[in-house]
Amino acid sequence: MSDLAELYRVSQAVLSVTRQMSVRDVLQVIVRSARSLVGARYAALGVPDEGDSFAEFVVDGVSSAEWQAIGPLPRRHGMLAVLLNEGKSERLADIRDDPRFEGWPRAHPQMSHFLGVPVRDRDHVLGIIFAANKTSAAAAGRGFTERDEEILTLFAAHAAIALTNARLYERSQELSVMQERSRLARDLHDAVTQKVFSIRAHARAATVLAARDPMDAARVRTEIEVIGALGAEAHAELRAVIDGLAPPDLEAAGLAESLRRYAVLAGRAHGVPVTFTAGALPALGPQAEAALYRVAQEALHNALRHAGASGVRVALSRAARRVVLEVSDDGHGFVPEAPSSGLGLASMRERASAAGAALTIRSGETGTLVRMTVPVKAGAVKPGPVKAGPVKASPVKAGPATRGPVKAGGER
Ligand SMILES: Nc1ncnc2c1ncn2[C@@H]1O[C@H](COP(=O)(O)OP(=O)(O)OP(=O)(O)O)[C@@H](O)[C@H]1O
Ligand SMILES: [Mg+2]
Repeated sequence: MSDLAELYRVSQAVLSVTRQMSVRDVLQVIVRSARSLVGARYAALGVPDEGDSFAEFVVDGVSSAEWQAIGPLPRRHGMLAVLLNEGKSERLADIRDDPRFEGWPRAHPQMSHFLGVPVRDRDHVLGIIFAANKTSAAAAGRGFTERDEEILTLFAAHAAIALTNARLYERSQELSVMQERSRLARDLHDAVTQKVFSIRAHARAATVLAARDPMDAARVRTEIEVIGALGAEAHAELRAVIDGLAPPDLEAAGLAESLRRYAVLAGRAHGVPVTFTAGALPALGPQAEAALYRVAQEALHNALRHAGASGVRVALSRAARRVVLEVSDDGHGFVPEAPSSGLGLASMRERASAAGAALTIRSGETGTLVRMTVPVKAGAVKPGPVKAGPVKASPVKAGPATRGPVKAGGER
């Protein structure tokens, strides 16, 4: 299998943790691909348990008969303990010559070349991934290379994402309170975005490395470009996973009520007063309602995080043949066209256009106004079953359903 195909497999696997694959399956894919890419006879990934053994220990390159013969899971001693405790990579020409090596059970395969990398979530070591015995004859004496270490480090970053995702996902399954869900979504957002960025940083670092080794430069560079592209893709996809983690029950509660609840919670979480107003809305259909909800969520989140606003207004109103969402703040504004590493603005635009809606962002010194206008299909214009009726909610002040009390920042 080509290197590119291996990377795709890993990327796909990591992204499917919360969908259909168990974390063990994903770790298995990671270990198998890592072994193949660094050209090792053996590879394994261990996640410590509460005691002195491993909660997960996934191996590749060992037959099930060999595995059985080796006996119980390894305890955390010797080189594995060193990796877990110190959280640093180890690349050894022969592990048996290292003073920290403490031996194996009788049926354990003989290992010489050793490359071990911690799987880390920031300062926290979640586990270790290691490869042993370089297979190519050329490497027989030297063992693993710096490039192998780079690759294994990249795989360790993937494994960290898979483990973090799996942990958060498991927790999310047990929780039903909306506040808890949105907190999770935020955590996951923070954790995962950061890691994906670090994948991209690895890609950049490896490009530099490649420049130092002219023999391999072209190949390595191509590979690294692929890693960069994968990183960007993973970022976008994980974003979708994050959104999916906190699905609002629009159908049961109605768009206005769901948004009201979210706005109140988000405002409270950030300590900024959020005013929510909504008039009676016509039925829009699930797709348009979901798009309105997501755009409102992102615009609100941006206003709370970036604007330095003293208040935010979210309003849903009905005009002739259209439903209009406005999210405005009285913060310091920004340049909407400026390039940004964030995905929020891009995803708002995508969602709006997929729902056939218009999105405008006006921003200036006195604030920002995000407006989304959704056309109401003919036949659906008459007020639908009044789902939530006029909904008013505000931790501080309830505004009229027409224009909100916060000055329409950007309406200039
Ligand atoms: N209401 C706002 N007031 C001030 N600045 C804003 C506002 N909305 C967006 N911005 C600026 O625009 C940038 C891009 O926003 P975007 O939502 O695309 O990314 P992000 O919020 O930084 O990251 P992400 O949404 O991916 O978590 C922000 O980083 C921020 O600087
Ligand atoms: Mg954002």
